[in-house]
Amino acid sequence: MQHLLFELPKPIIFAHRGSSAYAPENTLAAFALAVKQGVPALELDVKLTSDGEVVVIHDPTTRRTCGVNGTIKKMTLSQIKKLDAGSHFDPAFTGEKIPTLQEVFDLVGKKIFINIEITNYTSIFDNLPNKVAELVKKNKLQQWVFFSSFNPIALWKIKHLLPEIPIGFLAEAGKPGRLARSRLFEWLNYQAFHPYYGDVSLDLVRYHHQKKRLVNVYTVNQAETMRSLQQMQVDGLFTDDPILAQQILHPNQ
Ligand code: G3P
Ligand code: MG
Repeated sequence: MQHLLFELPKPIIFAHRGSSAYAPENTLAAFALAVKQGVPALELDVKLTSDGEVVVIHDPTTRRTCGVNGTIKKMTLSQIKKLDAGSHFDPAFTGEKIPTLQEVFDLVGKKIFINIEITNYTSIFDNLPNKVAELVKKNKLQQWVFFSSFNPIALWKIKHLLPEIPIGFLAEAGKPGRLARSRLFEWLNYQAFHPYYGDVSLDLVRYHHQKKRLVNVYTVNQAETMRSLQQMQVDGLFTDDPILAQQILHPNQ
């Protein structure tokens, strides 16, 4: 059976960190809102706590989104659960927590397609890919998720654990992403390429299409950029504003 990723209407709109223009990023509120808004897919960032739980947060620390100094990989889940991840966005969201991946699955699993970004960038050999694979299997969400990372080791590991699920290789913006955009990573056997929008060209899209890969572009919040990427036939884009993206890319739906 073809994986659901390849069946989604193109360009695929991924609500980046949930519907993060309208609710605090990477919270249950932002994910529930993406479902309510009728967005087909969302993106989230996962990390390991010191006691081996999988939590959903972008930064390695809690400073920006919780207003408190703390490093996720050095904190237990119960310490993390005491923090408020909502009020930095708007006081109306006070009390929103950093969710576990299991809580996200409980709330929106099988309601929306999920791109799980494996963000073990400060501990590239940790157990996060194994823990994520376990949760996906336990929840029987193999058709409803795919994985991405800037870390090729994490992708290689999870591909071996769940070979039927596609992987997306992320490339850093500009010069730091040159290696990832080169042909040196063909060994990784990835099914989607995820470049920064400023690095996308027709040649790049054609190259990956020849390799039967999707090209999903991050993070696109301007209508003009959405239009020009659609003209270049990219397969998907990550946006903080999925409502705008739907108006621009799928105006008749
Ligand atoms: O996965 C797309 C995008 O989220 C990658 O960058 O830093 O927002 O996780 P970042
Ligand atoms: Mg991300």
